[in-house]
Amino acid sequence: MNFLKERVLKDGVIVDDNVLQVSGFLNHMVDTPLLCEIGKEFANIFRECKPTKIITVEASGIHIATVCALELQIPFVIAKKQGVLNLMGDFYHTEVFSFTKQACYCLCVSKKCIKDKERILIIDDFLAYGNAIDGLIRIINEANAVVVGVGICIEKSFLQGASKLMSQGINLHSLVRIKSLEGDAIALEK
Ligand code: G4P
Repeated sequence: MNFLKERVLKDGVIVDDNVLQVSGFLNHMVDTPLLCEIGKEFANIFRECKPTKIITVEASGIHIATVCALELQIPFVIAKKQGVLNLMGDFYHTEVFSFTKQACYCLCVSKKCIKDKERILIIDDFLAYGNAIDGLIRIINEANAVVVGVGICIEKSFLQGASKLMSQGINLHSLVRIKSLEGDAIALEK
């Protein structure tokens, strides 16, 4: 998706060798025409997988999942983050460690939200180490549903998340793949 690649190169701000700030267009102030393009692109990529539902993680995945779900005319689910593990039995829950934030959180989804054998598409803004996506996959597996794909806006391919998912046979599509943020430059994969 050249539209997003161009925007990342133009307006992405390097915080350090590992973190790119995209607050000006994707996850703080949001460029809505760009967001609509992202939704269309994910829908085109994943339509043939026949997803019946999208799942994302709060908070920065929500608007992206919304436009994608609208395009595909399917519902979406927001996996919630909780600091403590004090959930009732009618939630799927799993612990996730965020390397970026250096903290654990509990990801949870009501059992009413994922049905047996449902075809689930995972959508999120960033893929770094893949821990959040791994957590969602564990929940989807526990619900006896099927992961039909993972759609990511920005993958940091110099970290292990993408290779970890692909080694599990996950159908991963990232709109932008960052090769490196070193030397104060954003280098994209072709
Ligand atoms: P992982 O899930 O792939 O293992 O990644 P990690 O724990 O490192 O990511 C945790 C959070 O940090 C995620 O947001 C993710 O979107 C965000 N993140 C990761 N790398 C970058 C980056 O280079 N730039 C920016 N801007 N964000 C990054 P989150 O915990 O879901 O928080 P929220 O902002 O969605 O609430």
